[in-house]
Amino acid sequence: MPARDRQNAYSPVKTLGTILAEVSNLDYKFALMRSIPERGRGVIARYCDFLPVNDETPIVSLGEGDTPLIHSPRLSERTGRGCDVFVKNEGVNPTGSFKDRGMTVAVSKAIERGARTLICASTGNTSASAAAYAARAGISCVVILPGGKIATGKLLQAFAYGAKIVAIDGNFDDALRIVRELGERGDFAIVNSINPDRIAGQKTAAFEIVDEIGDAPDFHLLPVGNAGNITAYWAGYGEYQARQRTSPERQSNGSTKVPAMIGFQAAGAAPIFHNQIIQKPETIASAIRIGNPASWKQARAAIAESHGAIDIVSDEEIIAAQTWLARYEGIFVEPASAAAIAGFFKCCDSNEAAYSFKKIPEQSRIVCTVTGHGLKDPDIIMQRMRELKPVPASVNDVQRAIDL
Ligand code: F0G
Repeated sequence: MPARDRQNAYSPVKTLGTILAEVSNLDYKFALMRSIPERGRGVIARYCDFLPVNDETPIVSLGEGDTPLIHSPRLSERTGRGCDVFVKNEGVNPTGSFKDRGMTVAVSKAIERGARTLICASTGNTSASAAAYAARAGISCVVILPGGKIATGKLLQAFAYGAKIVAIDGNFDDALRIVRELGERGDFAIVNSINPDRIAGQKTAAFEIVDEIGDAPDFHLLPVGNAGNITAYWAGYGEYQARQRTSPERQSNGSTKVPAMIGFQAAGAAPIFHNQIIQKPETIASAIRIGNPASWKQARAAIAESHGAIDIVSDEEIIAAQTWLARYEGIFVEPASAAAIAGFFKCCDSNEAAYSFKKIPEQSRIVCTVTGHGLKDPDIIMQRMRELKPVPASVNDVQRAIDL
């Protein structure tokens, strides 16, 4: 059976019309009346008015989005001045990263256009997400990866979801160049963030933040790799601003509030910060090991228009922030995600920070997006674990071993 027909015969993929009809069930109505978020229904169902979908679009969803925005008293204390710091935990999306928000839209649209095979270049998370949504849709997926540079968990995911995996003797930038060329030949639907449907889906994270805290935050911190995510957040805040969903206060020109966007690159892979292509990017945060970001210009625009900044954090700072967040907030993220937290510490403490928080307005609200789950990339933490030698199975021996 051709992929498209198989797709249509397969019930998990519904059109928006069907989903909206389901919402009129009593249970959902009741939930909506009490303004309980439509948990688990996915970002297209929740934000269809803002997305390039119509009643006929076949929706491929795994219930992405609606991720926790966690208030952190300890990080808030770090800034002082009555500020509130929140961590937007995107690691709890279905495949463990923020990529799922964009992938549900990109894959749904690809199916609508009759695509049979997806393709992407990836540092790991995009490939895991593309492979999962392709599996859900019943079509094939090809992923092109920099050989030897993909975190174990992510590679495992792509394999488990059944993607065709090709490792190249080159980096992410080489992989993306190849994908662009193959995409142009028309055999594949590209689901990298150069596909505008990906950006459209990812902007829903900004909507969720505004919907939850009732306004745009003052500052938004996030890691930057290929620069799709900073572009997407800025688009999301811009759209909510245009629809007057954010407060008019503090803006002299009468427009409503948007945050200053502050992006962080790894010091060894920081083309936007240095304003030049990095031929051989290197960082322990393999997800953002990118020397020539596709959305470079858009990221620059987001930073300039929002009066934000781009900065760098070292691998040591990234690992320290990853450990801190796990130990003191119970949030285990992958190294690339920890760049946002390392960046936050830099803004608070360092005289070299591109944006200092030492004199930010009192009661500012700061959101740090952590982009992927720690279990995807366990190697560094594993190196630090001591060997666990079993003790005899008695209460006394166990008590001795606890040694508190
Ligand atoms: N954090 C994580 C965990 C990522 O996987 C990525 C990008 C980023 C941050 C940076 O986001 O590229 O939109 O600026 N990962 C891509 C991938 C490149 O292939 O999975 P960006």
